[in-house]
Amino acid sequence: MNKRIVIAFLAILITGFKAKSQEIKKFFPEKDLITTGIYYYPEHWDESQWERDIKKIADMGYEFVHLAEFAWFRLEPEEGKFDFKWLDKVVGICEKNNLKVLLCTPSATMPAWMGEKYPETYIMYGNYIRGEHGTRGLGSNANAKYKFFVERIVTALAKHYGQNKNVVGWQLDNEPDAKTDYSPAAQQAFRQWLQRKYKTIETLNAAWGAAFWSQRYNSFNQVIIPNLTLVNWWGNNPHALLDLKRYSADEQAAFLDFQATALRKNISPNQYITTNYTAISPAANPRLTKKLDFAAYTAYPNGGAGNNGSLGFRLGDSKTLLFASEYYKSVGGVSGVMEMQPGPTNWATQASLLLPGTVRMWLYHSFAAGGKLACSYRFRQVLYGAEQYHGAVIKTDGITPSQGGEEYIQFNKEIKQLRQLYKPGTSLPQQLAARKTAIVWNLENYWTIDRQKQNVRWDSWNYPVKFMEIAASFGAPVDVVDENANLSDYKVVIIPAYEMADPALIKKWTQYVEQGGHLIITCRTATMDRNGHFWEGETAAPLSALIGAHITNSDMIIPYSKGDVLSGQNHYPWNIWGDLLKVDDGTTILASYNDQFYKGTTAVVKRNIGKGTVTYIGVVTDDMKLEKEILETNYKEVGAEVAHYPAGVYAYWRDGFYVAINYSSENYEMKLPANAKILIGNKTLEPAGVLVWNE
Ligand code: GAL
Repeated sequence: MNKRIVIAFLAILITGFKAKSQEIKKFFPEKDLITTGIYYYPEHWDESQWERDIKKIADMGYEFVHLAEFAWFRLEPEEGKFDFKWLDKVVGICEKNNLKVLLCTPSATMPAWMGEKYPETYIMYGNYIRGEHGTRGLGSNANAKYKFFVERIVTALAKHYGQNKNVVGWQLDNEPDAKTDYSPAAQQAFRQWLQRKYKTIETLNAAWGAAFWSQRYNSFNQVIIPNLTLVNWWGNNPHALLDLKRYSADEQAAFLDFQATALRKNISPNQYITTNYTAISPAANPRLTKKLDFAAYTAYPNGGAGNNGSLGFRLGDSKTLLFASEYYKSVGGVSGVMEMQPGPTNWATQASLLLPGTVRMWLYHSFAAGGKLACSYRFRQVLYGAEQYHGAVIKTDGITPSQGGEEYIQFNKEIKQLRQLYKPGTSLPQQLAARKTAIVWNLENYWTIDRQKQNVRWDSWNYPVKFMEIAASFGAPVDVVDENANLSDYKVVIIPAYEMADPALIKKWTQYVEQGGHLIITCRTATMDRNGHFWEGETAAPLSALIGAHITNSDMIIPYSKGDVLSGQNHYPWNIWGDLLKVDDGTTILASYNDQFYKGTTAVVKRNIGKGTVTYIGVVTDDMKLEKEILETNYKEVGAEVAHYPAGVYAYWRDGFYVAINYSSENYEMKLPANAKILIGNKTLEPAGVLVWNE
């Protein structure tokens, strides 16, 4: 077997998704670029309005309708009695209007009859009180009765719609989030999970460091789900809590696979199966799911604040789509936005109006990053219920498009124009491929680092994402990859705060460098083994040979004071994290601390190994200025030209189209080559502006 085949084979073993990347083309023909859809809840409206509403959806240029997500009460109004007639009618009206249908499994909203008769189908909170009827997302995935009902309705839906040519796919559940469930069924499932993992109780005791505070167990039966409500934070066992996260994520993924299996038995291979993870998904791990065709996500960039200047609160956070689009793409080869925020929401810190153009800009962002679908939550603003204040693409009168609705109409028209210009077989232009960058990231490290941050200002989620922003500011295509990914595709690889590692992984990183890769590793990497224990040795012991330095200590400074790092003649303020390094012979010192009692101690080092280089950045500087310069140097070393986009301006290439968007609060003048042909927008990108060109 040659190396490529081995890698492909490993990829298939690692995730069921990858094997399908070719098949996915049949769901999303490349010439269609991106397809848009809209959530419609016919159960909220009088039947007499369905025809009018669905015709309007078609007139607005949408191509599919998302149905039945929270409609369990209509699909199974009484236990075991199904009613699909109303949905048949809606699906029929969609077909008449040339609209495809994306159906959902309704597992997120259990009907009242279920809670009345089977209260055990709800999760239990940390105070051992059960959830109850009245909201969504409280089904206990560990509960056999709940799973029985889910499997039954999913199977019934699959049998009924699985061969319908107008149904293109299925969304499972809603925003899977691996909630902690303390119910008896979950306790049992957790114990079984631990038993499968550790085999013997002594192995668990060792992994959990159970000698500490007499936590030792004599048998698996004594283990209970670690419950911070009762033992309080000082009883926190980080290793047990890490396993709880892992178990909950596994259980969540298994629940999705369970639904997917029930569907697959009865649906056509031409219908896809996906779900709608949240863009920032701190608990559910999409990489664990094996039976879905791809992972989609929900994007609400504006929760009342933004990150780029005075208009930021109208434009939203530019990092939301930046990160999510790459992360979810890395799971299944393709991705897309299942819910694009259509306007102000009911849950934002303040629901300010969006700057005109913002929804369209988000749509272009998703398109530019390779998105295959961009659906929006929801068509009509609902007149009642918990989300009555949530924006929609149609206002409360049921007929007038909102600002977001108008922007969808425009986007839908423009995409149809771009489809005319699509040329098959294009590939990433050489000058972009030359700066192709990967960020190695996984949820487990987020879980561990966020539990023991050591500094309240350590931003566990955004620290890695900031490196993405930096790379994007250089116009580099950035992938978010799993540690098993083949790194040789990337000129530059960044490993930000990858807290848990093992010698085999570090060997893989070393080989990447030896073979010519440029690796950037940051503070808080490999400081723990996979159980979250420190090494019996110096800090990050297995890493020191690779980086050519030793971490002797780590410091941080109070918020209103700064430390000073010196690199060449340049000063960089910092105060969040600083590793103090002792340097081996042959390692180059790039930056040192210029004050504090350890003045002169090294903060950043670099060395050559084989054909490549490794840089270790031990400090987090204000605005990550030093980190940015280091990354730029790496691009120069690989011979890549770089752009210098201001914060919030991103430029992408996809399928032969260059797309630039502007989340900043200032106009930005895009410099285009002489052969550029502008297709949409103009060179001056206003805030929320979009520019599409080809060369
Ligand atoms: C999403 C959810 C939708 C809707 C929306 C409101 O997180 O999936 O069903 O509640 O939020 O912004």
